[in-house]
Amino acid sequence: MFSPHAIGFVRSPYTQTNDIPKGLGARHEAEGVLEILPEFEPGLTDIDGFSHLFVLWIFDRSQGFDLFGKPPIDDRPHGVFATRSPRRPNPIGLTVVELLRREGSRLHVRGVDMLDGTPILDLKPYLSSISPDKLRRGWIAEAETRAKA
Ligand SMILES: C[S@@+](CC[C@H](N)C(=O)[O-])C[C@H]1O[C@@H](n2cnc3c(N)ncnc32)[C@H](O)[C@@H]1O
Repeated sequence: MFSPHAIGFVRSPYTQTNDIPKGLGARHEAEGVLEILPEFEPGLTDIDGFSHLFVLWIFDRSQGFDLFGKPPIDDRPHGVFATRSPRRPNPIGLTVVELLRREGSRLHVRGVDMLDGTPILDLKPYLSSISPDKLRRGWIAEAETRAKA
């Protein structure tokens, strides 16, 4: 195992969890900045060529976990590993953002769903090789069908 260290922090317009869009069909269009610590800036070399990034981060304002619970987008309970709940055994978040531009160690992005000041664990280029017809969306697709009925 290893001790995680923040490589930077998210600057987000959201200061409270209630401000962040939730629910079926919620869209994350908010712009923010990923402020990477100066000692890690060389690691951003060549990142500009990617349109989207995976951001791994810490749910630093979440405490404890539930292995089974009801997400806000459904009235039925699901296992934590079948959801994106902030209350998980290892409080790690994963968000795909669009990279708008880089200014040194500051990455301007669109699509943040984190609170302002959230610690960033890692960044990776987003690459998806899974075609939409192969993708199954589990209980979320069922919840969407029920909501439309
Ligand atoms: C449903 S989670 C999904 C996060 C990420 N896209 C993922 O899949 O891991 C998003 C919610 O986490 C909560 N959240 C955001 N930043 C947080 C933080 N730093 N600490 C604790 N909870 C946070 C907010 O309530 C937000 O609506």
